[in-house]
Amino acid sequence: MLPQGVAIDSRTGIVSPSTTVYEKRLSEFRGVYSDTAALDALIASKGDLVTYTVSERKDPGTDIFFGTTVMQPGRVGEEYFMTRGHFHARRDRGEIYYTQSGEGLLLLQSRDGEIRTVEMKPGVCASIPPDWGHRSINTGTEPLVFVWCCNQDAGHDYAEIATRGMRQLVVQRGGMTAYVANPKYEA
Ligand code: PA5
Ligand code: NI
Repeated sequence: MLPQGVAIDSRTGIVSPSTTVYEKRLSEFRGVYSDTAALDALIASKGDLVTYTVSERKDPGTDIFFGTTVMQPGRVGEEYFMTRGHFHARRDRGEIYYTQSGEGLLLLQSRDGEIRTVEMKPGVCASIPPDWGHRSINTGTEPLVFVWCCNQDAGHDYAEIATRGMRQLVVQRGGMTAYVANPKYEA
């Protein structure tokens, strides 16, 4: 492996060259968004939209793993488009999220259910401590583009958040962004 520059487009999030690119579509989020009827109605009217695209750059011969996530603007019912959310499989691995364009919220949750948020806006680099679950949410009207970087061995543990979600939902109510308790989490 030799030193090199990897171009990242701040508007599209395209990483050149990347090693893997994947997309997540609405239909993969049944049971993730709280309003299932709104999800079905959105898919019926707009089709199975891509809500986010992840471009990864993983090189052999280093411990560093980086890439971008591009989250489209939109909502399922009141809830803004968001990532699945995960803890890292290795509990001693943190991560950074550097926002390049758009606006959103990084919702973080500790293992014992403490919630924190970090505003995502251009120029802000969020530091995610080890063992905090994290989900990014586009609260704006433009694509939210952020660069992430962690260790290659951090891994993704989706199970806990997939089972009961995060403690709070981030919604738009009366034109404002609001946090509401997630009934599924407390159940
Ligand atoms: O490692 C990360 O935190 C990111 O690369 C995320 O995997 C990415 O933003 C997609 O989110 P999720 O994996 O929760 O669907
Ligand atoms: Ni992560």
